[in-house]
Amino acid sequence: MTTPHHPTDFLQDLRTRSAAEGGVFWINDDLLAVFEPDAARRVSAANWQGLLMSDRFVDIVRRRGSTQVPWSRVRAEWRTQLHSLATAEHHTGLITRMERIIDARLGDDVDLVLLAQDVAVRALLPIALSGLTAGETASVVQDLDQQLMRLIDRSPGSGPGWHRLRFAAVQFRTGLVVRRVLRERAAGLRARERDLADPFVDLLPELGMDRAVDVVTAVLTAIGGPPGAAAASVLYELARRPEWARRLTVELAGADPDEFRAAPVKAAPVTHRFVKEVLRMWSPPLLLMRRARTSFDLGGTTLEEGRGYVLSPHMIHRDHRFWYAADVFDPDRFLPGAPHGPLGRGCYVPFGWAPKKCIGADIGTVQLIALCHLMCTRYRLVVPAAEHVTMAYRFAPVPQKFHGELTLR
Ligand code: HEM
Repeated sequence: MTTPHHPTDFLQDLRTRSAAEGGVFWINDDLLAVFEPDAARRVSAANWQGLLMSDRFVDIVRRRGSTQVPWSRVRAEWRTQLHSLATAEHHTGLITRMERIIDARLGDDVDLVLLAQDVAVRALLPIALSGLTAGETASVVQDLDQQLMRLIDRSPGSGPGWHRLRFAAVQFRTGLVVRRVLRERAAGLRARERDLADPFVDLLPELGMDRAVDVVTAVLTAIGGPPGAAAASVLYELARRPEWARRLTVELAGADPDEFRAAPVKAAPVTHRFVKEVLRMWSPPLLLMRRARTSFDLGGTTLEEGRGYVLSPHMIHRDHRFWYAADVFDPDRFLPGAPHGPLGRGCYVPFGWAPKKCIGADIGTVQLIALCHLMCTRYRLVVPAAEHVTMAYRFAPVPQKFHGELTLR
């Protein structure tokens, strides 16, 4: 069965050119498409090698260098913190937060894209930045919602400047909240928390406040986009595929609750495959814009320093050279040894490429599996004429006019 969705002409054109030109080609004078798995891996490795944090603003103004901090150090702090959050207790906290947000909307006619965004962001927020007052939470969530609205409004290729389509840095109010939290934690006026911001309180003397704020807002920006888009795509596929919803319900209703909360990926392998296939078909964000920090050769094409390039998990995931029946939704392609699985290394990249690969891949996956669990065991989702809901290509694939009602089972 072929999916009846039509990428915008622009994306369709990129797909056609990618197939004809082997995945690496100039989109325009300043932008190289790198849609070939091995080239994408190599360009990422070369571009970010030895990446340092930018100098502090105050040091740039005074024309002196800041203390050098490798980006890998920042990522190591994030990873250590995320590792300590991968427990049954913290997963339970995440699921409970998701449940509260959905419970508050029971019986309403809800816009499921906005609900998915709300569930994803609000439930993830305490992992990024915890212990906020209600007012601070509202400021941050409003900023992230506004960022999302801007991203949802525009499709790639639409008008001049589309290639600057990217996550705008989260806004002013969020910056102020983050600054206050870091300052008060450092001064002992606010409790230390186990979140992704906390390691940078101890690193304040080395980083300076502005760079510490940048690091924390980078995480907030990251949780404001892809997780909500992916959650909306999960709801979309669940609503349109009753046969898969039934398969997931059998697995999830039968899973041991303690085992599920300790290790959802292990306790629910069918659901994990379903989530992986959603992320293959509807990978957010569609295009990742980058600028070359050095010149390098991509097997015949030279990318000079300062020129732009674009990566896209989506293009690789839908490329018929790397996937059998690339446009068909079939989670079983992720069964070990499946004949229609990926045709090689680097063909499945929903979380991007080292050394900038998404740090939230595990917790993001856990959240999507938990969403399936809630939808298949706690709630009943009714979407009128679900088969007519289509995907639009914005910063990510976004279901259109996707409304429905949730009730308790
Ligand atoms: C299903 C959910 C998610 C998807 C599909 C996703 C996808 C991505 C992608 C494609 C990138 C860019 C990688 C590259 O440039 O090669 C990225 C980066 C990033 N993601 Fe995620 N992400 C998700 C969830 C999360 C979560 C839950 C967090 C935080 C807890 C997070 C934090 C980050 C950060 C901080 C970066 C930037 C890493 C760096 O600059 O070194 N993401 N994500």
